[in-house]
Amino acid sequence: MTKILMVCLGNICRSPLAEGILKSKITTSNIFVDSAGTGAWHSGELPDKRSIAIAKKYGIDLTDQRARLFIVDDFKRFDKIYVMDKSNYINVCRLAPLNDYIDKVELILNESNPGKDLEVPDPYYGGNQGFENVYQMLNEACDKIKEKIENAS
Ligand code: 4NP
Repeated sequence: MTKILMVCLGNICRSPLAEGILKSKITTSNIFVDSAGTGAWHSGELPDKRSIAIAKKYGIDLTDQRARLFIVDDFKRFDKIYVMDKSNYINVCRLAPLNDYIDKVELILNESNPGKDLEVPDPYYGGNQGFENVYQMLNEACDKIKEKIENAS
């Protein structure tokens, strides 16, 4: 079983979309996908309405998701931790109890744009176009992730 965790700040905009998109592409039952945020402000809430809407436009339902905080135990539970931006990377790595766990953490866009260290911009304070943009970036990255994990298993 390969376990993938998607992480952003609030776990209501970007990482729920990343979770939903990757789940929608996976055809085998031996891959588990979850998401979390490094901040707890929205814990227990549904994804942002704009993330729900953009996912729905592409046939993906996010309404079974609820925001939760990233916890130290996630380093043990997950094989790979994809973060959306560099500040998420710093916030997650800061919690690592062992340096080896940092090897599990990667900027998600490095899957679609290797070595470029590009970020998924936070769409929270912007308009709907930001969510479309985020969807397209995550869709491309999730195609690569799917290919990679399905080829490895
Ligand atoms: P996310 O977006 O990290 O993509 O879920 C945000 C959601 C909420 C906040 C910031 C970013 N906030 O400050 O409440």
